[in-house]
Amino acid sequence: MENMEKDKIILTGDRPTGRLHVGHYIGSLLRRVELQDSGEYKKTFIMIADAQALTDNIENPEKVRQNIIEVALDYISCGLDPEKSTLLIQSQIPELCELTFYYMDLVTVARLQRNPTVKSEIQMRNFESSIPVGFFTYPVSQAADITAFKATTVPVGDDQLPMIEQTREIVHKFNTVYAPVLVEPAALLQENEARRRLPGTDGKAKMSKSLGNCIYLADTADEVRTKIMSMYTDPLHLQVSDPGHLEGNTVFTYLDAFCRQEHFGRYLSDYANLDELKAHYQRGGLGDVKVKRFLINIMQEILEPVRKRRKELEKDIPAIYEILKKGSEEARETAARTLAEVKSAMRINYFDDAELIRAQSEKYEG
Ligand code: TRP
Repeated sequence: MENMEKDKIILTGDRPTGRLHVGHYIGSLLRRVELQDSGEYKKTFIMIADAQALTDNIENPEKVRQNIIEVALDYISCGLDPEKSTLLIQSQIPELCELTFYYMDLVTVARLQRNPTVKSEIQMRNFESSIPVGFFTYPVSQAADITAFKATTVPVGDDQLPMIEQTREIVHKFNTVYAPVLVEPAALLQENEARRRLPGTDGKAKMSKSLGNCIYLADTADEVRTKIMSMYTDPLHLQVSDPGHLEGNTVFTYLDAFCRQEHFGRYLSDYANLDELKAHYQRGGLGDVKVKRFLINIMQEILEPVRKRRKELEKDIPAIYEILKKGSEEARETAARTLAEVKSAMRINYFDDAELIRAQSEKYEG
């Protein structure tokens, strides 16, 4: 008989170092909500990775502490539903530290040094020779995050692929050396190019708080309008009649990411689709302001319900902490079950092992 049991499990998460922005929304949050609602997964775990955030924010614990609630509010206002997804805080699951400690035996320093994500992050942070050990080893801790829940599926951005690869290696090694307890996860990538790497409003590679080029989920309608109106477009498109360029044109990149067919009917019915709009822009005769107004309408349509839900949720902050507490407790039970299997496979489960105690007694009998 065919086995109809659902066996796929999702785990993913974010470092709580700031409010979430529309890049997070289109690159991952929307996807998570779809996966959560698809009914195809046995469980969905969403982790606020505060311990990982601390690995490069030792000077700034308050930032991490303050942003837990911001990230949780952003999650739930986007449609992550605590009834369907387990929302948890990494530091509240001590089992993850234990797993990390044991996995460290399975990874070499050289392998961590070769991890491309760690490499580029070390450069970005100018750590040079003063790399905190906790930061250097965070891929091992991330492997614990993933394997503790026996996640099969990790929806992430492509910058996280080396983490998943490292996790798979740890799983393979563990299962080979000890016993086949752990599950090898697979990354689930966003296929839409514009969604995968949404640029900042200034056209710079990525949205980042320090560059001040983000549209936050919690921004007011006015803030969203102002930010889009001042978005980087095409510096050669000086007059409406000039031919415009799409390459590197932030407004069009956003349209590639956010625009759906039905938006034309609602907000810009002179055009049938995005290709027609692009063709007109490239021919000349289409002004930036018209395209920006269209994008504003789309973004407000998407963000308005998120803002409304957030306003509601903000009225009862203790309830949000309660959700995180419940989620963390539930997650902890799962992690504890995996840890017990891991310790048993590693032969460090002495007190649960009646056979061991009996055999040792026999050794010393008469
Ligand atoms: N490293 C991830 C990021 O910076 C956050 C994260 C921590 C994560 N643990 C995870 C992502 C486990 C996926 C799975 O975005």
